[in-house]
Amino acid sequence: MIPSIRLIKLVVLAGVVILSVLYLEGQEAELKVPAGLPSIPWPEDNLYTPQKADLGRLLFFDKRLSTDGSVSCASCHRIPCAFGDSTPVSDGIHGRPGNRNSPTLVNTAYSKFQFWDGRAKTLEDQVKGPLGNHSEMTEEDNPQKALELCTEKVRQISEYKPLFKAVFGHEDCTIDDIAKAIATFERTILSGNSPFDRYQLGDKTALSSEQIKGYETFKRVGCINCHSGPNFTNGGFANIGIGMNQPHPEDTGRFEITGQMKDWGSFKIPTLREVTLTRPYMHDGVYMMGLTLQKQAFSYTETSELSFVNIRFA
Ligand code: HEC
Ligand code: HEC
Repeated sequence: MIPSIRLIKLVVLAGVVILSVLYLEGQEAELKVPAGLPSIPWPEDNLYTPQKADLGRLLFFDKRLSTDGSVSCASCHRIPCAFGDSTPVSDGIHGRPGNRNSPTLVNTAYSKFQFWDGRAKTLEDQVKGPLGNHSEMTEEDNPQKALELCTEKVRQISEYKPLFKAVFGHEDCTIDDIAKAIATFERTILSGNSPFDRYQLGDKTALSSEQIKGYETFKRVGCINCHSGPNFTNGGFANIGIGMNQPHPEDTGRFEITGQMKDWGSFKIPTLREVTLTRPYMHDGVYMMGLTLQKQAFSYTETSELSFVNIRFA
């Protein structure tokens, strides 16, 4: 009797050990976010792993994803510009100019909509935009064909094979794998732990008195109605008149997606994180200085009071 009880105990113990190992392996690694930011809303079907984010980073900076090898995501989303660009519109493949300003990608993990008009709901969907866009990364007119060509190109690059195998379980990647990896990397581009965050978390010495005054003004004049929360945006859309002073504006923003008059001339309310690095501003990049906007749109002139928005990488 005794040996068999021991045996049962051993079997149970071994089972517990195996289950714990499996459980731990199934756990996704946690990504620590900088102070002041909420945890990242990872999608159920694309949870974080460090290997996936690394693979996404390689793809993001790889010009071979464009048909002629001249443009990568990072050509328009440049690190010195907080993953935005320094020109009003960025040049794509063969120098073809785009029609909107390249937005910063910092904290884009928290956005419910991607693009100035919000036409992509997820970062995974968004990736397929530039890869299939004739003015951005492909010479191919048909977006579907362009995505197939891009996938085929990545499949030919031998050094990616083991990386896709490790992350997705197969060497031959699909366009969805490429999108998932890049989106995972993008969700790790975070800006927080600024003096403002430390101030909000209770360190009352983190901001100068001038900056505190600026924050009070920011709230008083109503910037906070739209640029609210840890990412300085309420996630919605608004028409603040940019480019809307002509009888037939070329770009009517969100209206082009929904067809509803309430969205006419509305654009996504952008984050103000890293705003000193992301100029020129607005969907058309016409404003070099955010302060010009403030004066024009809000007749507000006490410019120095708004210096608190100079939020930098931690
Ligand atoms: C030729 C320049 C260019 C290239 C290359 C490019 N982008 Fe962009 N990106 C833009 C522009 C311009 C927009 C805004 C377009 C719009 O709103 O219609 C944008 C928007 C975005 C957005 C939405 C951000 C937001 O706040 O709404 C994300 C995310 C993004 N790009 C990621 C990428 C990724 C990933 C790649 C590579 C696969 C890439 N981009 C390649 C210019 C570029
Ligand atoms: C009604 C909502 C609303 C209010 C109030 C508001 N903004 Fe904005 N803000 C927006 C929208 C929408 C955009 C983008 C507009 C566009 O591109 O056409 C924007 C863009 C900006 C930008 C440019 C960011 C970039 O990356 O291009 C800055 C800077 C800015 N706002 C600062 C402020 C300040 C400071 C105030 C208060 C004086 C303020 N905003 C009030 C909605 C608002």
